[in-house]
Amino acid sequence: MEQRPIIAVLGATGSQGGGLVRRILSDPNKNFVGRAITRNVNSDKAKALAGLGAQVVAADLDDPASLEKAFAGAYGAYCVTFFWEHFSPEKELANATTMARAAKNAGVQHVIWSTLEDTRRWVPLNDSRMPTLMGKYKVPHFDAKGEANQIFTNLRLPTTFLLTSFYWDNLINFGMGPRENADGTWDFTLPMGDKRLPGIAAEDIGGCAYGIFRKGPEFIGKTVGIAGEHLTGRQMAALLSKALGREVRYNDVPPEVYRALGFPGAEDLGNMFQFKRDFEEYFCGARDIKFSRSLNPALQTFEEWLKRNKDRIPLGS
Ligand SMILES: NC(=O)c1ccc[n+]([C@@H]2O[C@H](COP(=O)([O-])OP(=O)(O)OC[C@H]3O[C@@H](n4cnc5c(N)ncnc54)[C@H](OP(=O)(O)O)[C@@H]3O)[C@@H](O)[C@H]2O)c1
Repeated sequence: MEQRPIIAVLGATGSQGGGLVRRILSDPNKNFVGRAITRNVNSDKAKALAGLGAQVVAADLDDPASLEKAFAGAYGAYCVTFFWEHFSPEKELANATTMARAAKNAGVQHVIWSTLEDTRRWVPLNDSRMPTLMGKYKVPHFDAKGEANQIFTNLRLPTTFLLTSFYWDNLINFGMGPRENADGTWDFTLPMGDKRLPGIAAEDIGGCAYGIFRKGPEFIGKTVGIAGEHLTGRQMAALLSKALGREVRYNDVPPEVYRALGFPGAEDLGNMFQFKRDFEEYFCGARDIKFSRSLNPALQTFEEWLKRNKDRIPLGS
């Protein structure tokens, strides 16, 4: 019978959870069993994880009993919500409740909750510097995660609260890469002024989470933040220019222009960047790079990430 502690991972076929499962499985010491939770055990991604040695189990956040089963017998659980699948902070709160209750009922000994700041602590709803969205949020996909911290605390779950950072992979998957102008020049657009944006290779989040599980109880009850680098838009554009072999200019737009770009979630992201810009010192300070590297020695810089991924960045107009 399997004696090693099991870490059950939500979102295992996605960015954060996938990085964690692969990190667990690639450790030559095989300290933990990686249990990959997915809604579809027959997908190519799920099969690939099984091929690497993961226990692949089915569960759906919309079916709490299935999650409780998936957490049964696990020592650790990685909990993450999927805002961009539904754009609903209320659903994130409901999903966080489902995860926390399932972890409690299964007696999980160490939960990592992938969270972000409730920005309303810094920018109350009556603060007019950015618009209130959906009636009661400033940055909906941040605020609900921060609000959900309380769910884990109230259940007295042994939780590490993990503050993540902007994925550089958004340049590939979220349409945030450089764009060509009509005159043939290239722009990289961010509403960050001259402030630094903490960023990370999405895969490295799992590596940091693994480092937290490896430390045992050290970070239970604590909030820890991670990033690969803190870079200004200008620095990112310079590194993009070098990697892509073409001049990419930093196009600094005001947050109100970004909010009005019209794609789904543009207002949420405009407010998010404004929060990061206006509270740069706090936001970068909460995501220490040296600390992140101590959890995950393979942590990439933006330049290293670009070297590996530059050909995957879609270059469009
Ligand atoms: N993009 C960024 O820069 C960034 C930065 C920090 C934090 N975040 C946060 O990261 C979160 C998303 O994490 P991610 O990027 O790792 O996700 P992702 O790559 O989009 O992966 C989502 C995975 O979640 C699973 N899933 C979706 N709905 C589910 C459900 N109802 N029950 C069980 N599993 C479900 C899916 O797996 P199956 O299809 O296999 O079931 C899917 O593979 C978001 O809340 C976002 O706000 C994003």
